[in-house]
Amino acid sequence: MPKPVLLMTRRLPPAVEARARRDYEVRQNSDDRLLSAAEILRNAEGADAILCAPGDRLDADLIARLPQSVKVIATFSVGFDHIDIAAARARGIPVCHTPDVLSVATAELAMLLILAAARRAGEGERLVRAGRWTGWAPTQLLGTQVSGKRLGIFGMGRIGRELARIARGFQMEVHYRDVAPLPEALAQGAVYHASDESFLPLCQFLSLNAPGGEATRKWLNAERIARLPRGAVVVNAARGSLIDDAALIAALKTGQVAAAGLDVYEGEPDLNPEYRTLENVFLLPHLGSATVETRDAMGFLALDGIDAVLSGKTPRNLVP
Ligand code: DGY
Repeated sequence: MPKPVLLMTRRLPPAVEARARRDYEVRQNSDDRLLSAAEILRNAEGADAILCAPGDRLDADLIARLPQSVKVIATFSVGFDHIDIAAARARGIPVCHTPDVLSVATAELAMLLILAAARRAGEGERLVRAGRWTGWAPTQLLGTQVSGKRLGIFGMGRIGRELARIARGFQMEVHYRDVAPLPEALAQGAVYHASDESFLPLCQFLSLNAPGGEATRKWLNAERIARLPRGAVVVNAARGSLIDDAALIAALKTGQVAAAGLDVYEGEPDLNPEYRTLENVFLLPHLGSATVETRDAMGFLALDGIDAVLSGKTPRNLVP
C-alpha cells in the first residue's frame, strides 16, 4: 500500500525527518526557506497532511484553496497564530500543535532573558568581544539583582507555570495576570491579579508568556508600561505581537524600563531597528524551544497528531 503523502514546509531535526520518511512519502522543502503561499499550495497538491511551522502563513485564503486531499495540518510549534483556525474548521481540517513538550525549554529561555537583561550580559559580552574591556572595575556594568525580587507573569499557562517554578529557585515572589485564577495545585503560591491596576505596579520583573493573536495584540502598551515600577525589567519569550514596540523603546530610553530581554518580534525576522541601537536590550533570535531534546519531542508530537487523524483517531494535540 502506498504511504500517505506528507508536505513538510521546513527541515526538521534528523530523528523527526527519519520517522516521517519511515511512515510517509515526504515532500521536503530541502532549501529550508519560507515557502510562498503559491509554493505551499502547489506542493500540497495530492498531499494527505501538511507539517508546517511558525513563519508559514496559513491564512483563510490559503486554507480555502488547499486541495481536498489535505486531511490534517500540524504545526511544529505550540503557537498557532500563523494559522487561521476558523478557516481550517470551516474546511473540516483538524489542526494539531505541540503543547507541553516545549514548556520547560521555553521557560528556561525566559529565565535566561531575565538574567541577561538584569545583569547586562549583552553589554558585557559585546565589551569583551570588541576588545574594549580594560579590566575589572568597582562600578563597571552594574545591573540589578534578580534573587528575591517580584516577578509578574502575564499568561500563567504551561510555560508561565514552568517559569514560576524556576523563579522560585531564585526566591522570587511570583504574581500573575490571566483570565482566571488557577487552582492552588497549579499556582503553587503565585498571587493572582484580576486587574492590571493591582498587577503591574508590583512587577519589578515582567515576563510575557501569553499566546499571540488579536486578544493580546500590543498588550504591553504605553499606558501599561507607565504602571510598572520605574526601572522594571521586561522580557518576552512568547510572541512579538504582545508588545507595542514604539512604547517599549521609548520607555527603555527614559529608564522607565531599565532593561528588556526579547526572543520574539513583531514581523520577525525583521524587528524594529531601534532595538539594535539600544544597549539595554538583550536580543535573541526566537530560541525559546531550541534544544535538541525539545525539538525532537515537538516533531514526534506533531507526527503523532497526523498519524492519529489519518488513522481515524482523535489526536491528543488538537488545537483547543
Ligand atoms: C512555538 O512553539 O510557538 C514557539 O514559538 C516555537 O519555538
